[in-house]
Order: sequence, then C-alpha cells, then structure tokens
Amino acid sequence: MNNFGKLLQMSIYGESHGNCVGCVIDGCPAGIELTIEELLKDIAKRKSGTKGTTPRKEDDLPSIASGYFNNKTTGAPINIQFQNKNTISSDYSEFINHPRPGHSDFVAWKKYKGFADFRGGGHFSGRLTLPIVASGVIAKKILNGISFSTKILSLGGNSNIEEQLNKSIEKKDSVGGIIECSVNNLPIGLGEPFFDSVESLISHGIFSIPGIKAIEFGNGFACANLTGSENNDVIINKKGETKTNNCGGVNGGISNGNPLVFRVAVKPTSSISLPQNTYNFQEEKITELIIKGRHDVAFILRAPVVIEAITAFILADLYLQNKTKE
Ligand SMILES: Cc1cc2nc3c(=O)[nH]c(=O)nc-3n(C[C@H](O)[C@H](O)[C@H](O)COP(=O)(O)O)c2cc1C
Repeated sequence: MNNFGKLLQMSIYGESHGNCVGCVIDGCPAGIELTIEELLKDIAKRKSGTKGTTPRKEDDLPSIASGYFNNKTTGAPINIQFQNKNTISSDYSEFINHPRPGHSDFVAWKKYKGFADFRGGGHFSGRLTLPIVASGVIAKKILNGISFSTKILSLGGNSNIEEQLNKSIEKKDSVGGIIECSVNNLPIGLGEPFFDSVESLISHGIFSIPGIKAIEFGNGFACANLTGSENNDVIINKKGETKTNNCGGVNGGISNGNPLVFRVAVKPTSSISLPQNTYNFQEEKITELIIKGRHDVAFILRAPVVIEAITAFILADLYLQNKTKE
C-alpha cells in the first residue's frame, strides 16, 4: 500500500524503468492556482546532471491527467504523471541472484516472491520521489504564506560540501550527510497531542523517503546532555515567541508558532562502483559484486527539495484538519 494522509491524501505509483511514475492527490481544495512552471521550479531542484549525481537524464515533464482545469485545481483527485524515457535495464538483471548490499533487491525479491520489477530498483527507486516533489508544490500552495528553507549542512561529516564531494568521487565511493529543514510562519495549533503529533507525522513522512536513516527536532539528541534550565525555551512575548528554539517549534506534539526545525541523516548511496563481497544466491556462496548502472554518488544532493515536499504535504494535511475544527 502506498497511501498517505488524512484529509489531504497522496498515493504514488510507478517504477524506475516502467512506463512512468506519478501521484494521485486527493482532498486538495478546489480553486488553487497552479502553473506548470511552479511544478518545474521544484522539480529542477531534484534533477540529476550536476557533479555527484546520476548521469541518467530525464526531462521530468509533468502531465496533469485530472483534477486541474483553467490553471486551477478542481477539487477532484489530481493525477500527475512523468514518463520514464532514459532507461538502461540490462544493468540490473544480475541483482536478483546477487542482491546489492544496502539496497532493496533482497527484500523485494523475498516479499514479492520474485514478481517485483527489479529494473533500476523498481518501485523502491529514488525516482518515486519525483511525484512526491510535485505533490509538495501543491501542498505549499495550500500553505500560502508559510515558507520553507532546506539546506545540506554536511557531507560525510565535512561542512565543506564541494571538498567532500570531490574526495568521494576520487575514491569511487559514495557519501551521505545531514539536511536541515526549517519552516517559518506556521500557525500555532497544528498537530495532536499523541499519535498525530507534528513530530510523529513528519517522521512518518520523512522515513517514507528512501535512504533516510535518522531525524531530530530542535536540538534533538543534544537535549539529553542539557539541564532543564539550559534546555527550556523561555517565552518572550504575547505571540509565544521563544528566546531559544531547542524544541524545534513543537510542544506537546503541537506547533507553537516558532520555526519548525529538524535535521535528517541521509545515508551514502548503496550502489557504489567499488567491488563488494556479498552473498550470491545462485552460486550459494559469497562472490564479488561489481555494480553497473548509473547512480548518484551522493543522492543527498537531490534530496532537500524532497524533504521539503513531504514536510509541506504533512503540514498541509494538518492545516486542513485544523480548519475543520475552527
Ligand atoms: C532522490 C534519490 C535518489 C536516489 N538515487 C539512488 C541511486 O542512484 N542509487 C542507489 O543505490 N540508491 C539511490 N537512492 C536511495 C535508494 O532509493 C534507497 O537506498 C533504497 O531504495 C533502499 O531504501 P533504504 O535505503 O531506505 O533502505 C536514492 C534516493 C533518493 C531519495
């Protein structure tokens, strides 16, 4: 199942080397203005082609098949589709018998009893984050006036992104890193005290993005080493603004009007060009695997806009839920 959200729902479909990838967004209010240029602006931020990203180039042109008329949403389900054009599937056939370590080949083979489309990682591919980015554009429009800022803080522990990228490329190895996302002008009151807390839902969404392995809100793990007097965010005015923002803009699961701030850890790309010894199910022993195909050295470079999109989607859903209670 690939469905997410309560009042605003998204499902995504497709495979990396199938005909297309896409999303269906249900529950979007009618009358929201949307242009193809707005979609393309965020889509461009996820595109490959720059240093450290996959040489696979796709035009990533969105085709809106439903729920959109005269440049506005109609209130009906919105189906946005992207064709896959630049695929080279022969590179992937050996991963059935000799699964890539760190990737989904082994679990996909077991769970779907050999029927899953393995080409390019199939339905597990980072390509499925393209329709997520498109959904995020619509969510941002629902959240009119709320701004997002997302940046890579470090790559392989190095805050000099360019330097680290060059080192990793030279070593023919991959690299991960840390992304920080902050959301400004969020209203007070989004989220619920327990299971649908802002942190719970954002974490759910963030871990739906392939390759994300950790998240922390505000000062995160560092709070464990502070005293209450050091960690407490003192309220300084009627609006509820706080002197510090150690809690990352959430108290009791509910947005407190200060910036929502969180960081995520993105793993190094598992498909690397260095030889790896791993279990070969055909030969029933460990043999050397050389991964062919086109891969991102650091897929984190393409991930900030994806993080932003899923965050916007969750917040837009919470925003619509809150409106029904007003
Ligand atoms: C935008 C994006 C691009 C990605 N590109 C690649 C890639 O080129 N090669 C690869 O092995 N993994 C890539 N990944 C990560 C895999 O999709 C992911 O590691 C895999 O599906 C297994 O999921 P897991 O890492 O969450 O266990 C990418 C992820 C994202 C978000």
